[in-house]
Amino acid sequence: MIKFDFNTYVDKFIDSNSYNNLLTKKDEVINKFNSYDMIGWKDDINHELVNDIKETANYIKNNFDLLVMVGIGGSFLGSYAFSKMFSKYFNNHNYEIIYAGTSLSSEYMDELLNYLENKNFCLCVISKSGNTMETKITYKLLKNLLEKKYYQEETKKHIITITDKENGSLREETMKEGYKSFIIPNNIGGRYSFITPAHLLPLAINYDLDSIISSYYDGESLTGEAYRYAVIRKLLFDKGKVVENYSIYEEKMTFFTEWLKQLFGESEGKDGVGILPMSTVHTRDLHSLGQFIQDGNKILFETFFKIENSEDNIIYDNKKLHDINNIVLDSVLKAHFDGGVPGILITMDELSIQNISKLIYFFQLSAAFSSILFGVNPFNQPGVEVYKKEVQERLG
Ligand code: PA5
Repeated sequence: MIKFDFNTYVDKFIDSNSYNNLLTKKDEVINKFNSYDMIGWKDDINHELVNDIKETANYIKNNFDLLVMVGIGGSFLGSYAFSKMFSKYFNNHNYEIIYAGTSLSSEYMDELLNYLENKNFCLCVISKSGNTMETKITYKLLKNLLEKKYYQEETKKHIITITDKENGSLREETMKEGYKSFIIPNNIGGRYSFITPAHLLPLAINYDLDSIISSYYDGESLTGEAYRYAVIRKLLFDKGKVVENYSIYEEKMTFFTEWLKQLFGESEGKDGVGILPMSTVHTRDLHSLGQFIQDGNKILFETFFKIENSEDNIIYDNKKLHDINNIVLDSVLKAHFDGGVPGILITMDELSIQNISKLIYFFQLSAAFSSILFGVNPFNQPGVEVYKKEVQERLG
């Protein structure tokens, strides 16, 4: 169960006429959204594909000690966020999955290669374009390690690729070598690719895939709320609230907020507009950025994630520790609001795979609606090409 409070800590900051005016534009925005050819993530997933993903996940678990996922950005961050949210802080018994490829740190790579030296690992590389530098470098270095350890035919059994159906060097290599492979469809971009093998393959290793998929599609029932969230964000932006802080009280959600930052930042931030997403982890950051949020430059609004129930029963001073955490959340929301910082509240009955899968669909819709309200294309990212060109010139 998920509840949204878009009003209590927001209304005083926005003008009701502008709010009603934008609400009447809903059909227009949805028509524009439907006119894009990058919304394949709304279509039903093919059952044969789901079975193939489940079988491949079993093949990995039955034949290897661990899985190394290589990728960066949108086609990668969702399952990484799950792996952090739905595993134990200590004594984690999930099948081991390492997520690599998000940096060029040679220290990290050196340690990773040492760690994998004597391990029987499966290497899964995700790149829709097949040309992303960090992914290419990481994949090549890990493949070299496999080639050092095994004969050519054995090496091939350790590699799985997830890429475009026809284009790019990764597809070319896949066809030449005959690797097991999955497709990221043409009509789905990286950060909207939760419902593709890019995310579903690693998720199928440790979680119930059917439940993830059905909960994801349940997110469609939140279309009205997704539009209202987009409208409120836009109106707050128009009032000078140009930064959105995602505020969490469960540290396991840290990479979920990284996923959100990537989704909204890359969808909306173009042509000189967009809201800058940031995140804070509480109560830790109340002793750091909390000062700025309460008392500094009033450029922010916040979106709080509240988890109503927790399975544990840790008691402190006759109160559940979880309830104390939520009392702090409620107090901070009110204190920041009184200090001139609007707050949106998203409450889940529990931190569950079902709630998060549903929210993923909700946020994907909302990021797209919001980008349309800003007058930009939600599905491209021309800005990230600029640094790539510069790097190419320097590396030759
Ligand atoms: O959301 C996006 O489209 C990007 O973040 C991409 O996922 C990221 O740049 C990686 O691209 P690719 O899958 O082509 O390697």
